[in-house]
Amino acid sequence: MTLGRSLWPPCRNPPGLPEREIMENRIREARPHVNRNEKLIFERSTPGKSGVDFAPLDVPPVSPEEVLGPELSRSEVEGFPEVSELEVIRHFTRLSTWNYGVDTGLYPLGSCTMKYNPRINEEVARLEGLATDHPYAPEALVQGCLGVLHETARCLKEITGMDAITLQPAAGAQAELAGILMIRACLAERGDPRRHILIPDSAHGTNPASATIAGYEVRNIKSDECGCIDLANLEHAMTEDVAALMLTNPNTLGIFESKIREISDLVHARGGFMYMDGANMNALVGVARPADFGVDVMHLNLHKTFSTPHGGGGPGSGPVAVKNVLEPYLPLPIIEQAPDGGFGLNYDRPRSIGRVRAFYGNFGMAVRALAYIQANGFEGLRQTARDAVLNANYLNSSLTGLYELGSCCPPMHECVFSDRRQAARGVRTGDIAKRLIDYGFHPYTTAFPLIVPGALMIEPTESASKEELDAFIHALASIAQEVEEDPEFVLQAPHTTRVTRLDEAAAARRPVLRWKPSHQA
Ligand SMILES: Cc1ncc(COP(=O)(O)O)c(C=O)c1O
Repeated sequence: MTLGRSLWPPCRNPPGLPEREIMENRIREARPHVNRNEKLIFERSTPGKSGVDFAPLDVPPVSPEEVLGPELSRSEVEGFPEVSELEVIRHFTRLSTWNYGVDTGLYPLGSCTMKYNPRINEEVARLEGLATDHPYAPEALVQGCLGVLHETARCLKEITGMDAITLQPAAGAQAELAGILMIRACLAERGDPRRHILIPDSAHGTNPASATIAGYEVRNIKSDECGCIDLANLEHAMTEDVAALMLTNPNTLGIFESKIREISDLVHARGGFMYMDGANMNALVGVARPADFGVDVMHLNLHKTFSTPHGGGGPGSGPVAVKNVLEPYLPLPIIEQAPDGGFGLNYDRPRSIGRVRAFYGNFGMAVRALAYIQANGFEGLRQTARDAVLNANYLNSSLTGLYELGSCCPPMHECVFSDRRQAARGVRTGDIAKRLIDYGFHPYTTAFPLIVPGALMIEPTESASKEELDAFIHALASIAQEVEEDPEFVLQAPHTTRVTRLDEAAAARRPVLRWKPSHQA
């Protein structure tokens, strides 16, 4: 056995470190049985070990070289690990438990709505008829699946108040592009092609990218001191050459546009469209309907608001809902219900912007979202939005005084702080986020939105309990104190992970994506 002492960095406990963590740090004095220095499976190889025994051949042997040719066969894969089945199982099971996710703990990544994905969603999505039907099966054989899409669309229309919807886009950003292309098609048909899209500086970053890809020039409008649209600025910017105002609402500061009615009236009076990035609808579901405050086209992120997996998990889904004026331009095909109750796909829509995604979108996501909607019901969904807003406000007021607020208005679903106070001690938002890892939390979103210098953007969602929020607040309070007492220690965080500070620029620019035997590395 190798004694680990000389391999480990000296143990240094920060001031005020909880007792549990001090104990964990002390484990560095001996190599524990299961530890974070797990070797790669390639490095665990012992010559001669095997995870599987093949049954004796019951057919004549064939030479792969003869069948495939020498260029496609090799006698040995260099570095291929020789390990037992148990070693493989233990290795990957251990690794799976080190993967932080919504099932592990609070995931306060602002602008991402990392809420719990209920197991009922998965259960329903795995039902045989829904999981195994082929998208090219004849309509008559997939009436159930088409019915699910139709019902999901109906629920989302009711939630948003809009007249029509497509479930096709595979993400919020793709939905934005589809929505703006619909505006463009409509204006072109009216003989009024306009050149600009207005986007406030509090919008999500994908908005200007989508508008640009759709062929528009983006004009930025500055927010007021609360982070809302400044009406005087809008009045000035909203010329007859503006196709749409693209508004993230609630915006990236977590603030609801309080003058939304006046804003949409002004945009409409000048012949423009109101696009709402509705990816933050978790704050509004069951409480306010965008159609009622003048929105003409909007998208939803099912992988945020409607509890379908996202991030490194499943595919996304970004339905786009429109008012009747934009309905003819919806992507192909649309699902319709005949008077006899049967469902069909309508491709005969000459004014459509065309197909934006294979088949009818990520069907499994619509199934999960519908399961979530039905499991919660109307009251449950409304409660969800209220709890999400309550949790964000609890964090907002608890952390005020420790970190500088990003906006003077009370937030909706997420709260934003600035690292200004800590920056005076040389510690920036990214350093605080790294230190949070030592406390067992996934970091918040760092340095976004850009209108708040050194932003800490925190979205707890309704999934967090008060106990969990209190632990998170305690961690951030403790880090604020550490910054005062020993900023250098925070600058070197994380201290408890297998690798500590990385050269992030090098990791992004020169990623090592493939393992090589050590003599080749
Ligand atoms: C407000 C907002 N708009 C748009 C997007 C883009 O969505 P997606 O990542 O699915 O493309 C996001 C993503 O989190 C978002 O928060």
